[in-house]
Amino acid sequence: MDYSKFFSADVPSFLRSPVREIFRKVDLSAICSFAGGYPAAVTFPVEDIKRLSSEVLEKYGTKALQYGATQGVPELREVIARRYGVPVSQVQITTSSQQGIDVCTRVFVNPGDVVLANNPVYLGALQSFKAYRAQVMNLDLVQSTMVDQVQGIIGRGPISGTGPSPASVASTAFQGTSGGLSPGDKSGPSPKSGWTKSAEAEAQKRKALSAKFIYVIPDFNNPSGETMTLAEREEIVRLARELDCLIVEDSPYRELRYSGEPVKTIRELAPERTLHLGSFSKIFAPGFRLGWIIGPEELLEQIYICKQCLDLCPPVFDQYMAAEFMGSGALDRNLQKTIVEYRKRRDLMVALLEKYMPEGCSWTYPEGGLFLWLTLPEEIDTVALYDEALSAGVAYVAGSFFYVDGSHRNTMRMNFSFIAEEKMEPGIKILSNIIRHAI
Ligand SMILES: Cc1ncc(COP(=O)(O)O)c(C=O)c1O
Repeated sequence: MDYSKFFSADVPSFLRSPVREIFRKVDLSAICSFAGGYPAAVTFPVEDIKRLSSEVLEKYGTKALQYGATQGVPELREVIARRYGVPVSQVQITTSSQQGIDVCTRVFVNPGDVVLANNPVYLGALQSFKAYRAQVMNLDLVQSTMVDQVQGIIGRGPISGTGPSPASVASTAFQGTSGGLSPGDKSGPSPKSGWTKSAEAEAQKRKALSAKFIYVIPDFNNPSGETMTLAEREEIVRLARELDCLIVEDSPYRELRYSGEPVKTIRELAPERTLHLGSFSKIFAPGFRLGWIIGPEELLEQIYICKQCLDLCPPVFDQYMAAEFMGSGALDRNLQKTIVEYRKRRDLMVALLEKYMPEGCSWTYPEGGLFLWLTLPEEIDTVALYDEALSAGVAYVAGSFFYVDGSHRNTMRMNFSFIAEEKMEPGIKILSNIIRHAI
């Protein structure tokens, strides 16, 4: 039977995640996997979860097993509101932060609308943007367009308002990034400096200025591991104000900082236009599938209505668990241990890269999160090398999968949270040998 006529017009835009495909095909325990973004199982607070399961049932009884409010149970919203210093009315619980990205795209984006993102982009976000047929454009396209406008190369377009001149925005944005190249490394551009220099038509350039929102991961980006400086965040805010668009600040790793000082969130800089997405996946356990959105009430109201048709309400038992875990201080205690564990893994991976990687390779030095980004000599194609690496027992994610245009084939994302410590050295050794042979 030919089923194709049954599918909606959205279906051809669905993007299959190469990371999930790797998981389908490979037994992760049998290889050295730097591919996924899984947390380390040792960070899961199993004993707390055992204790809290019965405490939640004692305290809330069958209410914990019933349907709940679409916004989330008040107890969890209150705990999150207290932790981040916002009113409860500005907190919406989501069934994972992936749902947060998806629901924001669904609520704000019509097919053909522009979403601005800096490259490389988190794959799950790309999947949602594409599923709603958004046009994903690079932030640098907007910046170069603004410079063109100031220089009179193209028309002024739809931008209006006060604030800094487009030229000042364009010239200062993204000049530096904390967590750049490893001190041990030798060469290679940071992912941001490799942005596609657009030669698109004037109409395309103008279109970029009509963006609905800017999507960013300011802290410990997935996939690059980079962190935006305060100046970079301020430029994002200035840009959003100039374009009069929203900002979706995706922040699942913010609490996982191993070095350096915390930088203000974009939400703190521009609460009136920012939707800040948080997640329990990396600070509790991803199996609970819980996240939250902090944002202006008028925006949350539409998200709330949209969420009614998605899942009626987030999982109630899980929310009480998360509320007790966060509210009792158990989360902070577990977080301290988690940070020590991940700092050790990050430092080990960086030391091994310095020891084994050949000349011409570079990597980012993440101040937190779960990933670093490897840039290899231009001639190396990490997509082509992938099967060889897998046969030799190593998995990674090719960097080009995180670029809308499939470019940057000489890059890869490396995860340091999931792999067993004793597999880290053999894995990096195998990988560096494969790269050395390919050069
Ligand atoms: C940047 C980013 N956003 C969102 C998510 C989704 O997280 P969650 O498990 O809360 O859906 C991930 C997961 O890896 C991520 O890296």
